[in-house]
Amino acid sequence: MKILIINGPNLNLLGKREPEIYGTQTFEDYFKIIKTKFPNTELEYFQSNVEGFLIDKLHEVGFSYDGIVMNAGAYTHTSIAIADAIAGIQTPVIEVHISNVHARESFRHKGYMSKNCVGSIAGLGFKGYDLGIQYFTSQLP
Ligand code: DQA
Repeated sequence: MKILIINGPNLNLLGKREPEIYGTQTFEDYFKIIKTKFPNTELEYFQSNVEGFLIDKLHEVGFSYDGIVMNAGAYTHTSIAIADAIAGIQTPVIEVHISNVHARESFRHKGYMSKNCVGSIAGLGFKGYDLGIQYFTSQLP
């Protein structure tokens, strides 16, 4: 099973960025741990701050991978183009947010991609990525 984690803008700064909201762990450190938790899954990670690169990646893997776990960062709340890309591919996408976006500023309450995703996880910290992967691996016959 092949699963890609995609992180959008500013998530390369995890560990340094607003630690009171996003914690002190870097995503690279977390990714090393998560790979050991799913030894039978081919897990890959991609991050970009550029909307078009995120869309290109969705197109690239979206007809061959088994699942995508995506935190689109602030593009969640602004990008119809990312929502359309998710609608246009075959690979199912799970939306993840580290923070509980529903308990934050009102501009974070709207998300364009949610309706095109299998499901959304918010507010469970990095654990949300684990749970997204676990969902896909549990779909195995
Ligand atoms: C985020 C929430 C977004 O509102 C914010 O713009 C982010 C991170 C999260 O993981 O909680 O960059 O997606």
